[in-house]
Amino acid sequence: MTPTKIQITRPDDWHVHLRDGDALKAVAPFTAAQFARAVVMPNLSPAVTTVVQAVEYVDRIVAAIGDSDFEPLMTLYLTDDTSADEIERARKSCFIKAVKLYPAGATTNSAQGVTDIRLCDDALGAMQDCGMPLLVHGEVTDPAIDVFDREKVFIEQILLPLTNRFPKLKVVFEHITTADAVNYVLNASSNIAATITAHHLMYNRNAMFQGGMRPHMYCLPVIKREQHRQALIHAATSGNRKFFLGTDSAPHARHAKETSCGCAGIFSAHAAIEFYASLFDRHGALDKLEAFASFYGPDFYDLPWNSEKITLQKTDWTIPESYPLTEDENLIPMMAGETLNWQLVDNDPEN
Ligand code: NCD
Ligand code: ZN
Repeated sequence: MTPTKIQITRPDDWHVHLRDGDALKAVAPFTAAQFARAVVMPNLSPAVTTVVQAVEYVDRIVAAIGDSDFEPLMTLYLTDDTSADEIERARKSCFIKAVKLYPAGATTNSAQGVTDIRLCDDALGAMQDCGMPLLVHGEVTDPAIDVFDREKVFIEQILLPLTNRFPKLKVVFEHITTADAVNYVLNASSNIAATITAHHLMYNRNAMFQGGMRPHMYCLPVIKREQHRQALIHAATSGNRKFFLGTDSAPHARHAKETSCGCAGIFSAHAAIEFYASLFDRHGALDKLEAFASFYGPDFYDLPWNSEKITLQKTDWTIPESYPLTEDENLIPMMAGETLNWQLVDNDPEN
């Protein structure tokens, strides 16, 4: 008999987009309600490239979540010009936990990203020396490369040479989507890990075309074929400490998704831990959920495990059709209007 109620250590989200302004106020409480901590992506417009900007952003996040104990773990956005001094300032700040590599043009707000990773050697050397992780959006941007192959080609063209030049650099290969990425991480040294989203575990690329174009299933890296999803499920449920939870919850206004050129990003923060619980349950791996969601991330980042617990129960509930994003805009959440079979029931921080 598989359990219908489980208690696990409160999880952390090792990759989330909290946005800014009204949208931040709308979405941050979802993440703060489930997770003790989250690694907050810096791809605002303009991007968070300096410690000074990160200080200002973290203040806005803390204001948005009110009196919650939630701790935002901040990141800096790597550019061609990021200096070793900026890395040193980030290390000293203590609240900046990582630096994010967006290849220029790869995804939402990546225009300020890196044009050639070799231009970043000073910053990367400083990060390797002080143990600051590099978080990688692992896709090449060459338009000649098929969009479904961009992660695989990134491993060959960028990641392998990079990790050969900086063998001790801590790297998180973010939101991996392919069997190629799983294999790369498995064969790499212990300073290389990966996050896996709920949507890449739950869906294959057919979901984008089910009965018509489904813009709310479009994200980057784009969801791949079933064989890749199976590899991700195997990695996430295998109990291997190199793989941990990162939702990549990326809210966009409904109109920005349902248009002739829709934005990439899937919002999953409203039911993040429930999506993972349901998936792990379906694969007979509920006993592996806690380590994936709550232990392997902090271990990689050299942070303590959370002491609080949460309770999840096998109960059907219906996900709302939409949530407010700003005064005039809504967002469409993952599985909008559908029934999910696990629910976070006891969210008492004293528990
Ligand atoms: C993210 C966003 O909207 O900021 N979109 C996405 O599809 N994941 C950017 C990113 O993480 O690539
Ligand atoms: Zn992301």
